[in-house]
Amino acid sequence: MYSQLPLLAFLLANAAPSSAGLFSGSSHTLHLATHHAHKVAIKHSAGLARDLRVALRGVLDVQSPSSPNQNVYCVSSGGGVSVPVGSSNTSSPSATTSAAGSQPTTSGSSTAPSSPWKVVDQYQGQNFFDGWGFYTDADPTNGNVQYVDQNTANSSGLIEINSQGHAVMRVETTPQVQNNRQSVRITTQNTFTGGLVVMDSVHMPTGCGTWPAFWTNGPNWPAGGEIDIVEGINNYTNNQATIHTNPGCSIPSSNSTLLDITGTVVGGTDCSAAQTGNQGCGVRSNAGNSFGTGFNSNGGGVYAMLWDNSGISVYFFPRNAVPADITDGAPQPSNWSAPMASWPSTDCNPFQFFYTHSAIFDTTLCGDWAGSAWSSTGVPGQEVSCAQQTGFSTCEAFVQQSGASFSEAYWEVASVKIYQTSSS
Ligand SMILES: *[C@@H]1O[C@H](CO)[C@@H](O)[C@H](O)[C@H]1NC(C)=O
Ligand SMILES: *[C@@H]1O[C@H](CO)[C@@H](O)[C@H](O)[C@H]1NC(C)=O
Ligand SMILES: *[C@@H]1O[C@H](CO)[C@@H](O)[C@H](O)[C@H]1NC(C)=O
Ligand SMILES: *[C@@H]1O[C@H](CO)[C@@H](O)[C@H](O)[C@H]1NC(C)=O
Ligand SMILES: *[C@@H]1O[C@H](CO)[C@@H](O)[C@H](O)[C@H]1NC(C)=O
Repeated sequence: MYSQLPLLAFLLANAAPSSAGLFSGSSHTLHLATHHAHKVAIKHSAGLARDLRVALRGVLDVQSPSSPNQNVYCVSSGGGVSVPVGSSNTSSPSATTSAAGSQPTTSGSSTAPSSPWKVVDQYQGQNFFDGWGFYTDADPTNGNVQYVDQNTANSSGLIEINSQGHAVMRVETTPQVQNNRQSVRITTQNTFTGGLVVMDSVHMPTGCGTWPAFWTNGPNWPAGGEIDIVEGINNYTNNQATIHTNPGCSIPSSNSTLLDITGTVVGGTDCSAAQTGNQGCGVRSNAGNSFGTGFNSNGGGVYAMLWDNSGISVYFFPRNAVPADITDGAPQPSNWSAPMASWPSTDCNPFQFFYTHSAIFDTTLCGDWAGSAWSSTGVPGQEVSCAQQTGFSTCEAFVQQSGASFSEAYWEVASVKIYQTSSS
């Protein structure tokens, strides 16, 4: 389906004679110090593949990251890509579509203050999956998943646009599988450097064995940086946002008051992947409705990631507290209450350690984090271990034998919008 892929495969294979590592794909968070030399190697080579893909895509798609305010991208026909953009009428900040995607809304239009942020890419409604690539390589985080292409995902019922116009991404629920369960991992084909990413979701994957994430990632990991906006495992109910970088990026303090954040720094203050066994610097939300069953039973909410000269911040708004400027499509981050996490530019240059990001959704199972924490407790939502709750001594065995347990392991996303200012 993607005409670029044979070319990419050819170029990648020739760029690296030992391409096994390359084809392990792009990077993702590795939370444990165990075997990390090996894992760093995997992620490094994976980063190279990612780098090449972005470079090639830049050529093929005539992409112009240096002029982020351009609404119209020329895209190759082979990818089935027609990137939905905010071209409807960006001079009128309220002229945006609703979360459901199909119904225009004019909520409070004439009184909404104008926003410096203009949408450049939006993914919602019937066209949600346009503009994303379906990743089909082995999971770089060693999960028990087989990521499938769009046609397979569609025909297997793993993806759909539901009657509310929301994009659904599921995990295979076949009762028993021999090895891995089918799942979905998608990556935006357009990239961005700086900006505001706003993701509205009504449901996210949850349950023992799951490890979902919504994140952004740059080339040549960790050089281009990784920003995990929504991430956690198993029965967790509190989100953890994390950045992973090259050496030299840190958080100035682990004191939430000084950082002016609502979350709690859970690891160290050094964000370097290499110097922290890939842990980076993570911040856990104190809100029990920010992840998993807590998030889902509250109707989900909106995550926003602001990346500008002040640094990088992650905001969470539960469903009943989404600011009107967000629903109006005219975001005013300066008017929002404190973020759950923040990595200020004082100690981490956001345009040195981060560039050329794609946004990514995935749901992996077990692997380096969910599998390793199978018998652990002590994190909000995980007062009883998954080993004890399920009666399975390993995550892998549970995944292979308990398909019905993954009926809650799905994303249901109303929209993803990527905004830029004319000055960024
Ligand atoms: C966009 O909005 C402006 C201001 O409301 C209006 O004057 C203009 O006609 C609109 N353009 C389109 C293409 O709808
Ligand atoms: C799934 O397949 C149907 C039938 O070909 C098509 O109409 C629909 O757009 C596809 N949906 C996705 C999300 O790929
Ligand atoms: C944790 O996950 C297991 C398996 O998915 C599920 O049976 C259990 O109800 C969950 N526990 C809580 C407290 O949500
Ligand atoms: C965090 O900083 C604030 C403001 O300086 C201070 O009052 C508070 O005691 C600090 N908290 C901790 C745990 O150090
Ligand atoms: C900021 O928020 C307040 C309410 O909290 C609202 O009245 C005001 O219009 C907002 N300002 C902007 C510029 O969005």
